[in-house]
Amino acid sequence: LDKPNDVAEWAAKYVMKKIKDFNAGPEKYFTLGLPTGGTPLGMYKKLAEYCKNGKISFKYVKKYNMDDYVGLPPDHVQSYHYYMFHNFFKHIDIDPKNVHILDGNATDLEKECDDYEEKIKEAGGIRLFIGGIGPDGHIAFNEPGSSLVSRTRVKTLAHETLEANCRFFDNDITKVPTQALTVGVQTVLDADDVLILITGSSKALALHHCIEEGVNHMWTASAFQQHKHTIMICDEDATQELK
Ligand code: F6R
Repeated sequence: LDKPNDVAEWAAKYVMKKIKDFNAGPEKYFTLGLPTGGTPLGMYKKLAEYCKNGKISFKYVKKYNMDDYVGLPPDHVQSYHYYMFHNFFKHIDIDPKNVHILDGNATDLEKECDDYEEKIKEAGGIRLFIGGIGPDGHIAFNEPGSSLVSRTRVKTLAHETLEANCRFFDNDITKVPTQALTVGVQTVLDADDVLILITGSSKALALHHCIEEGVNHMWTASAFQQHKHTIMICDEDATQELK
């Protein structure tokens, strides 16, 4: 598509159609996996608008977030709890009991990750997982080198990630959380449908590696070449490096 706004609109309409076609109700919840970051903000805005106009309801949608930092209070502006409530959940008709976000403050982090996988399983798996990729081809916090069959787990972040995230923490690297909880590549691969949003020239090289080269754990989003139904929806700038 042409611009990031077109990607946002296309994605929001796709999500709306998937939820509607599913005919969700009290006996049958739609399960939706969600990312944070800059890329999906436009989509969340559009979905909130559609919800406000009565075009879509999220009452029977269970939401599962991809990741969160370890040790940040949930009301910290950089926590993904805060991001999701502030940018999306408070603008739609959700029941808070249907929101699932990994708790980076849990006393037993490994148990928190295992329970998260269990919760997804109990809900019948994820119908649609939406994601974004980093300039290094990561999806969620599955950084280069992550196993392509990984599941939800604690990840120690690479120094480059801490440097990249520094800007969100007063440019002070000592304030950046060094660990995160994240779904694994396989957790996302298990979803029936995957929609990956990619905008901007900073993602162009990653898109090339992820779709025009072989499946490779150094570009973790390349794993989706082997998924039964993944759509990568891109703007023009993100496609600059494609052959
Ligand atoms: C989001 C996530 C990441 C981001 C990726 C792109 O929960 O886990 O994979 O989608 O880092 O981030 P933005 O959209 O900010 O470029």
